[in-house]
Amino acid sequence: MADFDGLHQVRLSPGDEQDALALSRDVGWNQLAADWTHFIQEGLTIGLRDRSGRLVATSAALPYDGPFGFVSMVIVTPAMRRRGLASALVRICADDLRARGLVPVLDATEQGQPVYEKQGFVPQFRYDRWQRDGEGSMPALRPGPATDAQAIAHLDAQAFGAARPALLRAFLSRPDTIAISTADTGFALLRRGRRAWQAGPVVSTSEDGAIHLISQLPLGDAPLFIDVPQGWQKIGAWLAARGFAVQRRFARMAFERRAPFGAPDRLFATAGPEYG
Ligand SMILES: CC(C)(COP(=O)(O)OP(=O)(O)OC[C@H]1O[C@@H](n2cnc3c(N)ncnc32)[C@H](O)[C@@H]1OP(=O)(O)O)[C@@H](O)C(=O)NCCC(=O)NCCS
Repeated sequence: MADFDGLHQVRLSPGDEQDALALSRDVGWNQLAADWTHFIQEGLTIGLRDRSGRLVATSAALPYDGPFGFVSMVIVTPAMRRRGLASALVRICADDLRARGLVPVLDATEQGQPVYEKQGFVPQFRYDRWQRDGEGSMPALRPGPATDAQAIAHLDAQAFGAARPALLRAFLSRPDTIAISTADTGFALLRRGRRAWQAGPVVSTSEDGAIHLISQLPLGDAPLFIDVPQGWQKIGAWLAARGFAVQRRFARMAFERRAPFGAPDRLFATAGPEYG
């Protein structure tokens, strides 16, 4: 990689979570230390440290079991932007996935999209982040119906286009994750984030089925995000009627591939832009 005077590239390892969390917290993102642990354990997570050892930039490559893997957690501290750091880190992560025979895919913020377009990424579809501000109190947690992790992983793989059983196991093993599932047709997850709860993925065979699943989640009155592909207008209307508003938009982008993976007609909310 190019020489960025005074910065050195590192592969993040267990123990680096708090440094990485400081960076994602500074840009207002929702990840927990547990999310960084997942990227570090399951993928290639790289960073740049300055002379004092401070982590100033990150990027991660997360391979999935299928035709693609995810590039994620692309963050550059504000004082170091517009020097090509993100471009260099993204290239390393995309190369890592390509070397494994996987198409690099990512979910771009508006700020990130120009960086990725220059490297050959093209949009597949867009989705809206619906946000509900809350009082800060967490949803009343009640045990969901018994969930079959394998069935959930199977449904997720069909809709998403690649299998990610380790990620779903990690979500389900967190003590406050809620899973709602309907026999062999769909499921919805709700997990804790740093700033807000995150609903998703939501997989179903119909938009009405998806609304039914979402309505069964204990949404409480805490801050909550749900990332819904554009076009699901009934879900948008349902969320708007419950005080949600679109906070920002993301583009699902893939390296030189415009056709979406999986079954977009079954995907009603993503797992969030860090996982797709
Ligand atoms: C997006 C982000 C990672 C870019 O980091 P960076 O190191 O500044 O990016 P680069 O210097 O590699 O940018 C490469 C090129 O992309 C384009 N670009 C980068 N940021 C841009 C912006 N905000 N608006 C328009 N173009 C932009 C530029 O053309 C730039 O090249 P140039 O400055 O030589 O013209 C950084 O702004 C950031 O951390 N933002 C907050 C977190 C975020 O949104 N991450 C992206 C998640 S998908």
